[in-house]
Amino acid sequence: MQTERGDEYSRALSTATVLAFVMSGRRQILVTSALPNTNGSIHLGHLLEHIQTDIWVRFQRIRGHLCTYVCADDTHGTGTMLKAEEMKLSPEQLIERLRTEHAGDFQRFLISHDNYYSTHSEENRFHSESIYRALDAGGYIFKQSGEQLYDPARKLFLADRFVKGECPRCATPDQYGDNCEACGATYDAKDLKNPRSLLSGATPTLRESEHYFFDLPQFTDMLKVWTKSNAVQPEVGNKLAEWLESGLKAWDISRDAPYFGFLIPGTTDKYFYVWMDAPIGYLASFDNYTRRRNDITFDDYWRPGATTEVHHFIGKDIVNFHCLFWPAVLEGSGRRKPTRVHVHGFVTVDGTKMSKSRGTFINAGTYLEHLNPEYLRYYFATKLNGTVDDIDMNLDDFVQRVNSDLVGKVVNIASRCAGFVAKLGNGVLAADQHDHALWNEVSGASEDIAAHYESGDYAKAMRLIAALADRANQYIAHHAPWNLAKDAARHTEALAVASQAINVFKVLMVYLSPVLPATAAKTTEFLALPGLTWDDATRTLGAHRIGRFEPLLTRLERSSVDALIEASKQGGETQPETKPTTSEIDIDDFHKIDLRVAKVLKAETVAGADRLLKLELDLGDSTRQVFAGIKSAYAPEALVGRLTVVVANLKPRQMRFGESQGMVLAAGPGGRDIFLLAPDAGATPGMVVR
Ligand code: MSP
Ligand code: ZN
Repeated sequence: MQTERGDEYSRALSTATVLAFVMSGRRQILVTSALPNTNGSIHLGHLLEHIQTDIWVRFQRIRGHLCTYVCADDTHGTGTMLKAEEMKLSPEQLIERLRTEHAGDFQRFLISHDNYYSTHSEENRFHSESIYRALDAGGYIFKQSGEQLYDPARKLFLADRFVKGECPRCATPDQYGDNCEACGATYDAKDLKNPRSLLSGATPTLRESEHYFFDLPQFTDMLKVWTKSNAVQPEVGNKLAEWLESGLKAWDISRDAPYFGFLIPGTTDKYFYVWMDAPIGYLASFDNYTRRRNDITFDDYWRPGATTEVHHFIGKDIVNFHCLFWPAVLEGSGRRKPTRVHVHGFVTVDGTKMSKSRGTFINAGTYLEHLNPEYLRYYFATKLNGTVDDIDMNLDDFVQRVNSDLVGKVVNIASRCAGFVAKLGNGVLAADQHDHALWNEVSGASEDIAAHYESGDYAKAMRLIAALADRANQYIAHHAPWNLAKDAARHTEALAVASQAINVFKVLMVYLSPVLPATAAKTTEFLALPGLTWDDATRTLGAHRIGRFEPLLTRLERSSVDALIEASKQGGETQPETKPTTSEIDIDDFHKIDLRVAKVLKAETVAGADRLLKLELDLGDSTRQVFAGIKSAYAPEALVGRLTVVVANLKPRQMRFGESQGMVLAAGPGGRDIFLLAPDAGATPGMVVR
């Protein structure tokens, strides 16, 4: 275990820290979301999970607890190996590319991971090996030979996903190696009739090989107790009880070479099955993070009997891994078990499974091109209730909830009242509360709302907040400060009403801050506060000078949602930065590209195109019309007179808006950061670029 690498000093220090925490009532909590696979982009399903987790994490932090949130990409498996091969990349290149993309997407959705790491890391190798050794020493590992389907053409054993055939029960053709979509039967891939390899089309052969097993049944009694404790939701506990009653089986934790993963210690051709090292990735990411912190110690979170907490957030499809195998692996290797596993359901859109053809398989990157991430954070918050029920994203309801509850009720309080404080109070709020009953009702809800966040019933918290906002709006409408403001004799009262409303608004933003971190940050700026803590919900602002009101959150237009759906139909999968490198070209191919200096003569926006600018370019001997997707980074007027580099011999292309006769070269991650390539200052239009 980690202690091998700790020293006496840090252990003494950590004991002191733990004591200090226990005495202050400050909890030390480690939180994780399931590790996304490196087989595609982050989509609505992942976002639901990370938003759910992040709201809980931010809630714990604003309550004053020490809450660490780690995640990583889940990188291992045959799939990664084959995908890398197909893309002519090394697996390492492929997974690093996706890790960067995933981490960036989450960041832009305001997910506050402390560390977003990778299961293909030295820390993960270390912990996987040490856990395996501990399990082996404890007598929980055995070897057994068995036959498995083997692809003679590709020379590898076939995972269930890579083989199809006829269902052994109902004979439906074209079924995967694990279960039948027609009759629901689960079976062994060996039992498929007329199997074929999806990798080569070859008929698989049966081949004998030795596998390593984790003896899960030895943990049955422990699991019966653990799954009935507070560690899982009741409905999850019931499902687990069924599995436990019907009997557990030993778990095959090895895969034969070739495989992309970690070798099992003491072998030269057996790898850990991806699901063995994936949850250990939680430890690895946390371990990696603690090395940058001297107030958090790895062992304090993972030794048996630790008083710290560990919380996993996962989807309902991976309950068996997290609520049977994982606690058993932890127990068997002498580590603590999770405090709680929080399980959520699946996202559907307008009542059906996310679908590429319907445009409802929405990727994070595509979403961000069209909509504000806080809309989705808020909407998911109104739907998450702490159960495993599926979460339907009804698009009309989405627009409605955001506009009527969030913008219409909450944000509106500030926009209606800020002006009166500026005008009538010179930016300073009235010292006293104007309506004590209203204040008490709003600030008095603080512990109720906290309890709902804690239990995962964000939906209830959002309903309470919306009801309080209703109360505030009734109060404002009743006193109509806009009428009071017309009468000089009643200015004090108008200011008192507006100030009361701003005080209430601040409390509502405390309550919403786990859900809307960006709007909360803008609010602290507007209110000229150093930040918000949960205690601010019960503190009035007094005669405090506030800042200038800037719009906090604007309405969500249905047309933007439609544009998002349209864009998702086109397959949002290919983000420019993650496009595979295409096959190599040689230097002669490269020389075919005629790169020229061009001067921008005219630049204008294009009606109906969000990202394009229409440019007129001077190439020395000719002028060209070129459309460039750089509108997010450049105002048209800023481009006129500027020199840039174009591909001059690109075949003209007919676009919806006219012909494009070349291509402007630019680089950058997108959005506001697109950098036009610029030649030396002394260049002249038409010059060849080398
Ligand atoms: N790599 C494993 C998890 C390893 S954890 C040690 C995995 N990856 S995944 O990318 O397929 O899914 C990651 C998480 O996203 C899972 O918790 C899964 O339930 C969740 N979701 C994936 N699609 C989903 C929906 N459509 N809806 C809601 N969540 C779903 O499983
Ligand atoms: Zn069947």
